[in-house]
Amino acid sequence: MAFGFGKIFLVGEHAVVHGEPALAAALSVGVAAEIVDGPPGVECAAWDLNVDCGDGSPVGEALGALTRTLGVTPRRVRLDAELPAGAGLGSSAAMAVAAGRALAAADGATPSAEELADAATASERVFHGNPSGVDHTVAIHGGLLRYVRGTPPTFAPVDVGRAFRVVVAQVAPGANTGKMVAGVAAQRERLGEVGRGLHQLIGAVVSDAERAIRVGDLAGLGELMTVDHHLLGAIGVSTPALDRACHAARAAGALGAKLTGAGGGGCMIALVGAETDTAVEDAVLGALAPHSLRAFAATVG
Ligand code: PMV
Repeated sequence: MAFGFGKIFLVGEHAVVHGEPALAAALSVGVAAEIVDGPPGVECAAWDLNVDCGDGSPVGEALGALTRTLGVTPRRVRLDAELPAGAGLGSSAAMAVAAGRALAAADGATPSAEELADAATASERVFHGNPSGVDHTVAIHGGLLRYVRGTPPTFAPVDVGRAFRVVVAQVAPGANTGKMVAGVAAQRERLGEVGRGLHQLIGAVVSDAERAIRVGDLAGLGELMTVDHHLLGAIGVSTPALDRACHAARAAGALGAKLTGAGGGGCMIALVGAETDTAVEDAVLGALAPHSLRAFAATVG
């Protein structure tokens, strides 16, 4: 089946908006797509979704934009989604990439990465207005990317010395990314040198984390992820539930834990050795009960 990878920010979110680099990673879980009989549209049991193109639904509109931009025959797409939707894990980009690949294959075509990126951008505009491009770039290429915003943004692959496992847990519905970004910008302005210093420190964490990933120093990476979480707390984007989940993960043996993405809710990630996967998942869900939404393990690299 055609596939699009899910995405996490490993380190560097928020400071990336202000010029620092960030590391974005593909998860081994994502969204798979196949073509089925029926009117052009999208169905996905995991997301409780069954829409047609042109029915006014955002997903129907996104599929229409994707189909037109790719120049392929409109068809019905069935998704097998391992990612929760709307949690900051790049689910809509993974959907666009998987659906684009499936639709093109049904016409006997193989789109280039650039064609797929253009089509995914058209689809992502329906959900995110002006998408940064990081989600669909990761969904297409997989792996781990050093990402710098700019016009255009740059994405450089990072060699992963030793593949690693993360537990991803959704602690609350995703917050509004635009509002979180605006809050961070206002704090940075208010705090002046201290505000800029916090963002520079996050940039330094990213550089060190990249080095740790290249040489396979997972203990070092875990420690840097935890430091990044505290810096994200200092810039005001963590929540008591995210803090509790990260603390529980570390207490259960995770090498490091942090919120991922915009914060204010959404997801946390914990770096684990394979043998601690389930212990960390259980600890995080226990710490969040009765409000835990979902936890799953995935591989990076
Ligand atoms: O939650 P996500 O995947 O949309 O991540 C947001 C990342 C930010 O750095 C907070 C914003 C951005 O556009 O880079």
